[in-house]
Amino acid sequence: MAENAKTVEKKPVKITETILRDAHQSLIATRMPTEIMLPIIDTMDKVGYHSVECWGGATFDASLRFLKEDPWDRLRKLRDGFKNTKLQMLFRGQNILGYRPYADDVVYAFVEKSIANGIDIIRIFDCLNDLRNLQAAVDATNKIKAQEGRGHAQIALSYTLGDAYTLEYWANTAKQIEEMGADSICIKDMAGLLLPYTAAELIKAMKENTNLPIQLHTHYTSGVASMTQLKAVEAGVDVIDCAISPFALGTSQPATEVMVETFKGTPYDSGLDQKILAQIADYFRPYREECLASGLMNTKVLGVNIKTLLYQVPGGMLSNMVSQLKEQHAEDRYNDVLEEIPRVRKDCGEPPLVTPSSQIVGTQAIFNVLMGERYKMATGEFKDLLRGNYGQTVKPMDQAVIDKVIPGEPRSTARSAEATGHTEPELEKIEAEMKEWKQQDEDVLSYALFPQVATDFFKYRMGQQEKIDLSAADTKNGAYPV
Ligand code: CO
Repeated sequence: MAENAKTVEKKPVKITETILRDAHQSLIATRMPTEIMLPIIDTMDKVGYHSVECWGGATFDASLRFLKEDPWDRLRKLRDGFKNTKLQMLFRGQNILGYRPYADDVVYAFVEKSIANGIDIIRIFDCLNDLRNLQAAVDATNKIKAQEGRGHAQIALSYTLGDAYTLEYWANTAKQIEEMGADSICIKDMAGLLLPYTAAELIKAMKENTNLPIQLHTHYTSGVASMTQLKAVEAGVDVIDCAISPFALGTSQPATEVMVETFKGTPYDSGLDQKILAQIADYFRPYREECLASGLMNTKVLGVNIKTLLYQVPGGMLSNMVSQLKEQHAEDRYNDVLEEIPRVRKDCGEPPLVTPSSQIVGTQAIFNVLMGERYKMATGEFKDLLRGNYGQTVKPMDQAVIDKVIPGEPRSTARSAEATGHTEPELEKIEAEMKEWKQQDEDVLSYALFPQVATDFFKYRMGQQEKIDLSAADTKNGAYPV
């Protein structure tokens, strides 16, 4: 072992801390308020993290909708506090942080304001891994970087399993990402499907095809995540995503302290100081207890969910499915739906299962089972997926299903913004709609993404509505691991 270590070149692993975004999105439905974050920032800033993921994903929606906080204000406060640490956000490609594709001018404006308010690294993903849906955000980041000297575009590939997803596919895609002008690549394993030895093969194959740094983002849901990170680091991955221990494991990330200790004294030693990490853990531990006591943190998200490996279905999608079946008084059809999910996924081109494709496939699978006939009824979103409105899938869709669900309809092969007609600038029109509420330029973007939720927030801000009681009872509609 020691002999080995001598011959291996030193390559300290870098760590992105997720406590301020994904960890609480995964474990407490994105409900951590800014006031919990601020007192520990000075300490976190001393660690020497590669970056702190603290914004984007579901935090934007949850801040406005549930916490009645301005997400832009949160970002500015975080930026003020973190003097030495890069701040990172999660960005849903052409959908930004919302639920439809936007015209390029909105994507550009959002990237510009994100960086202006403090973001350094933008992690951009698409639910179909259609790289065309990521290009506008990458170009916008590069343009701002050229002007401001700050900004980093990371493209995240939504990791999934299936016939199309060979090592060759991932390696070729890595090459394409480099050609698109991205600064780094993330393997985004939102469901915890990536196994340790597969991770090693995957990293090696991608590294052979690209010189870009590669970051691994995985979730502990299926119980293998720390082993996956270990093998990935040995195989040359540059950065791993971890969460400080009180908000680690379960559907969140591997624990920061554990991964730091694992690599201590090896060529991959991160060099991070356990004493500082311990202070951060001490700070968040009572908050974890509070969340457990109030029910905001449900013990269901804390254990190993082996079903996610067995059925290759993200944990959050399974729990969504159970509540949908409960509403229909059809819980006894759980296994039928589980078996139907991979069939529906194959029919629509085998997309990764991540927001929003996970909901689209899951809901259609429930329809197929409960109606007693496959595709007797289809959701509007499923039809849109078949129409090509989300972009292109890696595998072709099933022609018989297309003929049954959208007979004779035109299908698009364009990127999502074009397929859905969002080709002309739309920011001015959006601003005109909401200008009575505008107090800062950023408000236009909040409204663009969530018109109703943002309007409610603006009213609240004007003192026209009572603050909504923040109880654990309404977390059913919270976000889940992404
Ligand atoms: Co995630």
